[in-house]
Amino acid sequence: MEMAFSNSYRMGGIFLFFIFLLSPLDIRATNANIPSTLDGPFEPETVPYDASLRGNAVDIPDTDPLVRRRVTGFEPEQLSVSLSFNHDSIWITWITGEFQIGDNIKPLDPKTVASFVRYGTSRTNLNHEATGHSLVYDQLYPFEGLQNYTSGIIHHVRLTGLEPNNKYYYQCGDPSIPAMSDVYYFRTLPASGPQSYPKRIAIVGDLGLTYNTTCTINHMSSNEPDLVLLVGDVTYANLYLTNGTGSDCYSCSFSKTPIHETYQPRWDYWGRFMENLVSKVPIMVVEGNHEIEAQAGNQTFVAYSSRFAFPSEESGSLSSFYYSFNAGGIHFIMLGAYISYDKSGNVTFSVILIFL
Ligand SMILES: *[C@@H]1O[C@H](CO)[C@@H](O)[C@H](O)[C@H]1NC(C)=O
Ligand SMILES: *[C@@H]1O[C@H](CO)[C@@H](O)[C@H](O)[C@H]1NC(C)=O
Ligand SMILES: *[C@@H]1O[C@H](CO)[C@@H](O)[C@H](O)[C@H]1NC(C)=O
Ligand SMILES: *[C@@H]1O[C@H](CO)[C@@H](O)[C@H](O)[C@H]1NC(C)=O
Ligand SMILES: *[C@@H]1O[C@H](CO)[C@@H](O)[C@H](O)[C@H]1NC(C)=O
Ligand SMILES: [Fe+2]
Repeated sequence: MEMAFSNSYRMGGIFLFFIFLLSPLDIRATNANIPSTLDGPFEPETVPYDASLRGNAVDIPDTDPLVRRRVTGFEPEQLSVSLSFNHDSIWITWITGEFQIGDNIKPLDPKTVASFVRYGTSRTNLNHEATGHSLVYDQLYPFEGLQNYTSGIIHHVRLTGLEPNNKYYYQCGDPSIPAMSDVYYFRTLPASGPQSYPKRIAIVGDLGLTYNTTCTINHMSSNEPDLVLLVGDVTYANLYLTNGTGSDCYSCSFSKTPIHETYQPRWDYWGRFMENLVSKVPIMVVEGNHEIEAQAGNQTFVAYSSRFAFPSEESGSLSSFYYSFNAGGIHFIMLGAYISYDKSGNVTFSVILIFL
């Protein structure tokens, strides 16, 4: 799905491999009652691209309740769930504290807020606990007139020992403040093996944060996916200047900026907007060109690498740019386009072989 807001008008350039055990999988896009993969196999269905859609999407502004901060103090917000390597483990991610943008920003100390999750199979008996790690990131621009950004505290906690195909309730935060979230739930995926498949997987790219994104997300949610794959181009925060002025086409409108600026609060808006879906349904993300977001010290992809939990370590990857995981009998291999997979890159062929 190429949306109107690609400044370079190209896809992130993502390679996705699916390895299926035994039966083929088919994902259809019809309006009512999308059949599940278990009802298939089906003929693929495609819809021609409607070129009139390009350039007409309207960004959700910071005044919309969909993207406003709904918590106070160090209460968790922007909750999301993502998969670890297997059904038995899940990452929970959330943010505490407020981001700052401007001059004289002072990064929060991640150690001041705990990363703690209570979980269990009954809403009223969250009898397991897990702790994790936290970080903040900065987006810095050493140029006159540009504003710097420092994030809220980003927490990543891995839950383990989960049963397949099971509903789990969880609550995250720091009980000592006290600042715990409401109770949310997710479902684990089926165990890996032949004839063991998730019912529906939503695959989307170029999501952005426009009013048309609400259509896409509502459609996706109403079809109750077991898993969402977001294959690059997430928030389009890089179509904005650091002063919060945006454009459909960065290079057309802002051709003279000393560096390709971003407006990092768009990431927070996106996290708030997505929470309703991804606090329940695991989302797996891989980077696209809109996530490059160059900043001081030639750093790139910092928001992308900081804000999502990836099963990189669990799957033997050295990077957030490639990883793999199981979703029932499907082994997903996510290969982002911004790392070299030949001998010249850091990912040596032998690493790839081990990784596969
Ligand atoms: C932003 O951070 C950079 C790098 O540390 C610094 O050079 C610049 O002066 C800062 N800008 C503002 C507005 O504080
Ligand atoms: C996209 O959103 C605009 C309103 O911002 C609406 O007019 C238009 O119909 C939407 N397009 C699609 C394909 O939903
Ligand atoms: C942001 O900067 C641009 C370019 O200098 C300017 O045109 C725009 O009016 C500014 N926006 C705000 C909200 O200050
Ligand atoms: C950033 O990259 C440019 C060109 O690739 C190089 O000239 C410059 O020295 C680099 N700066 C830093 C701080 O590494
Ligand atoms: C390559 O790996 C080394 C050590 O793991 C790391 O320090 C370096 O930043 C990596 N380079 C790139 C381009 O990822
Ligand atoms: Fe794109």
